[in-house]
Amino acid sequence: QKGGYRHFMLKEIFEQPRVISDGLTGRMNDDKSMVRLAELDDLPVPKRLHIVACGTSYHSGLWGRLLLEHWARVPVQVEIASEFRYRDTLLLDKDDMVLVISQSGETADTLAALRIAKQNGVTVLGLCNVVGSSIAREASAVLYTQAGPEISVASTKAMCSQMLMLTLMALYWGTRKGCLSVEESRNNLQILENLPALLDGSLPAMHERAKEISRKYAQVNNFFYLGRGHCYPLALEGALKLKELSYIHAEGYAAGEMKHGPIALIDPSFPTFALALDDALLPKVKSNMVEVQARQGQVIALTNKGVELDAEDRWDIPALPGPLSAFLALPALQLFSYETADYLGKDVDQPRNLAKSVTVE
Ligand code: M6R
Repeated sequence: QKGGYRHFMLKEIFEQPRVISDGLTGRMNDDKSMVRLAELDDLPVPKRLHIVACGTSYHSGLWGRLLLEHWARVPVQVEIASEFRYRDTLLLDKDDMVLVISQSGETADTLAALRIAKQNGVTVLGLCNVVGSSIAREASAVLYTQAGPEISVASTKAMCSQMLMLTLMALYWGTRKGCLSVEESRNNLQILENLPALLDGSLPAMHERAKEISRKYAQVNNFFYLGRGHCYPLALEGALKLKELSYIHAEGYAAGEMKHGPIALIDPSFPTFALALDDALLPKVKSNMVEVQARQGQVIALTNKGVELDAEDRWDIPALPGPLSAFLALPALQLFSYETADYLGKDVDQPRNLAKSVTVE
């Protein structure tokens, strides 16, 4: 069942290349320049989108927002479902759309948010993995992520599949509105098409590096994860994975927020995992890393070849343009948490106090 892997989580991390190729199947037009999402053809492009989700699915939403705003020019708000459901719904307008993201399709707070949106007469789109789940059934329209069953409590391939669908939605709405050129759409689809092979070829080395670095830091009690732009949601996800699996306290922060308080915590025993990918915000992240090191904090930098930076532990992964590099950074974060937890002897697939599907509030 585990296909020769020690845990379902490891198997599911290594399934991500397949998840991407499956997710792309049938989603491009004949000359591979534009996205096909027949599920959305009859719905207007939303004036505003409200993404509502929990946990890892919420992080996917935060990441997807940047692409939807950049390529499709749709203003997006991302909310935690348990907060959304108890707020006044002043922001919900009839021309808006609510996108609920849920791997299981059964998360109680996300389902409640869906019902509230529907009561307000707003179209609700579901992004789910489990076919026929409550959210999939109750949404006005549903997009399936087709990641296949995810057994490990920690969500891995589901996030990858959600990110892929959010990317496709941004490209689809962008070209439909005419704010994204067909050329740009084609270029990005080409990158996505090449991604399964690239990821497949990179995962073994990533796994080795995750093993090496996790051994060095497994005994610490605290970790910061820092990122900016599309790497900020990844920082949140990296921290969530580390705490949920290894029970090491970890906080994900927007790197620019450090000097507004959290940097006071930095000392030699409090390392930082910096997402320092080669993108427009890299210079800013590098200066945040220097600030951490000036307080004797150790830094692991997840970065790309050729990037000049100073870190106690450097971790190079292949580069991709812009936010699509997240598809390579995500498995590195997952593998680091996996290896840390396994090294510490934790129950990787069934972490304490957690359930795969949170069907109660
Ligand atoms: O099934 P859902 O996507 O609605 O689940 C949401 C969260 O419960 C889930 O992502 C949780 O945070 C994971 N255990 C994280 O690995």
